[in-house]
Amino acid sequence: MISSTTKIVALIGKPIQHSISPVMQNAAFNELELDYVYLSFEVTREKLREAIRGMKSLGIKGANVTIPHKSAVIKHLDELDKTAKRIGAVNTIKINGTKAKGYNTDGVGAVKALEEAVKNIKNKKILLLGAGGAARAIAFSLTEKSAKLKISNRTQSKSESLASEIGEKTGTQPIVITQKKEDMKTAIKESDILINSTSVGMHPHTDKTLVEAKLMHENLTVMDIVYNPLRTRLLEEAEKAGADTIDGLGMLVHQGAASFEIWTGRSAPIEIMRETAKKSLEEIK
Ligand code: ATR
Repeated sequence: MISSTTKIVALIGKPIQHSISPVMQNAAFNELELDYVYLSFEVTREKLREAIRGMKSLGIKGANVTIPHKSAVIKHLDELDKTAKRIGAVNTIKINGTKAKGYNTDGVGAVKALEEAVKNIKNKKILLLGAGGAARAIAFSLTEKSAKLKISNRTQSKSESLASEIGEKTGTQPIVITQKKEDMKTAIKESDILINSTSVGMHPHTDKTLVEAKLMHENLTVMDIVYNPLRTRLLEEAEKAGADTIDGLGMLVHQGAASFEIWTGRSAPIEIMRETAKKSLEEIK
């Protein structure tokens, strides 16, 4: 029950109406009988600074940050954890009195989702599609896990600068691949895992995919971070090729679970979060 002692965690972004996080996080708070509530607030770019100050003034305990504020929010925070600093983006904030500290749980969420299917990703050859915010987080986390990473992005200058940044910060530089069919084909042939971290295939453009079945093989595991829909065209193509598939639900749940643990200090009830998120995604179909 919401009372005068209930602690608030906020979601800030724009748009936020379709976010799954409120139902997923509230289900987790209920499951552990924690006196917390998770609410979403539509915040424009112009109001971001005020929103952070307001959260501190009101004693709000933490937040998730989503599109388009993940990078812009950094200058309004008092501290950054090491991972968020490397990535240059924040999706989670913990507020302690007058101090707001930024974290990023996207990369660790993706790695946990991947590890549910592939036990040991050390030395696995991975081709990552994308070089945007989500891809940056995933690329750093995979490199920290000693995966052998290749990156391919539509705008090649972005994959090149991401690769050199990862090289400078971790000592291991991913290889950059163009998005020409021939180059992709060779890279996929040599890969154990293919991850789509672009928005290609997301509703309403559900017929789109960056890779078709004929470029894949049956020893490949294909993961898509798109969760709307859960069965993307990419994953359908992967199945046609006999590859294993991992849909976007796992990353959604694990990034949320990592945020939950930052705010509450408690182990997240992963299975309740997964069931609630899945049900909610099925309803918006
Ligand atoms: P997010 O924070 O969700 O990662 P983003 O930073 O806007 O969002 O990144 C979107 C990613 O999807 C980028 O890698 C983008 O490629 P570009 O860097 O070339 O823009 C990729 N992307 C989006 N639409 C695409 C398309 N039609 N074909 C190929 N890549 C696409």
